[in-house]
Amino acid sequence: MGNGAKQVLDDIMRVFINPSDRVIIPKPFWVSYSQQVILSEGIPEFIDFDADLKLKMDQLGFIAEKYGNVKGDGSAKLLILNSPSNPTGIVYSREDIAQIGEICLKNGIYIISDEVYEKFLYGGSKHYSIAELSDELKEITITINAVSKTYAMTGWRIGYCAADKDIIKQMTKVQDQSTSNPCTIAQWAAIEALEGNQESVEVMRQEYEKRRDYIYKRITAIKGFDCVLPEGAFYVFPKVKNFYNGKIKNSFDFAGELLTEANVAVVPGTAFGADDYIRISYATSMEKIKEGIDRIENFIRR
Ligand SMILES: Cc1ncc(COP(=O)(O)O)c(C=O)c1O
Repeated sequence: MGNGAKQVLDDIMRVFINPSDRVIIPKPFWVSYSQQVILSEGIPEFIDFDADLKLKMDQLGFIAEKYGNVKGDGSAKLLILNSPSNPTGIVYSREDIAQIGEICLKNGIYIISDEVYEKFLYGGSKHYSIAELSDELKEITITINAVSKTYAMTGWRIGYCAADKDIIKQMTKVQDQSTSNPCTIAQWAAIEALEGNQESVEVMRQEYEKRRDYIYKRITAIKGFDCVLPEGAFYVFPKVKNFYNGKIKNSFDFAGELLTEANVAVVPGTAFGADDYIRISYATSMEKIKEGIDRIENFIRR
């Protein structure tokens, strides 16, 4: 257990990475992954994505073979899998996950499976935890979770992971010298969240699904937006390239203009290694979402 999934992830990086070791990160990625790798003096090795926003499996196979099973400097130690994904909301199928697992097993690469959005799934989509696929995969997987998303307890800072005993032992050594344990009060609150009545989770999931449906319908109705229907988490990740002009040349410019002209805050795709896209979060009220989309519509029409 650590101070949020974030610290647990950082503990893993510190345990696994020696200077110039590689960590395979599929784009678009949650922002802290690459920065944590760099802070541990590792090298993020990015994998590109297809039109469906899922990783290019053949590229992963190639990179894993090139840097996996390599002894010494430059070897790939870890792959980070995040499904449902922040920022795209995509959910990997059982087949996809099995294929990713096979590549990692073959090339001696450990897997970080960040499952913090596992409870937020829509349209009947299913979450598969890679560690449950086989005993072999369980051995090389570090499964991450937290109370921050599922129970909207972001500020309580409780994240946790499950992995092989030896890995946990090394992580404990690292955390002992940084923050020790997370605040006891937050630990008791997390126990209550995890063991108490779970109805609130389904209530939240249903509300998010309504918001997802609404945003997706409204965004795709605006000519020029190109958007994959997200199946999980609480983000949509539309492509904005069609709106580039003399003033707006990338997603950073688009987000900047939208903020200054329409007072709407979105995150430019560059932050996630995917320029030409923006991330819209729907972890806010329906009222604000409606107002936000109205403003985006006016901003595009102007
Ligand atoms: C994919 C992903 N992993 C981990 C975290 C960090 O979670 P925590 O707040 O528990 O540190 C986030 C938070 O945004 C996230 O989106």
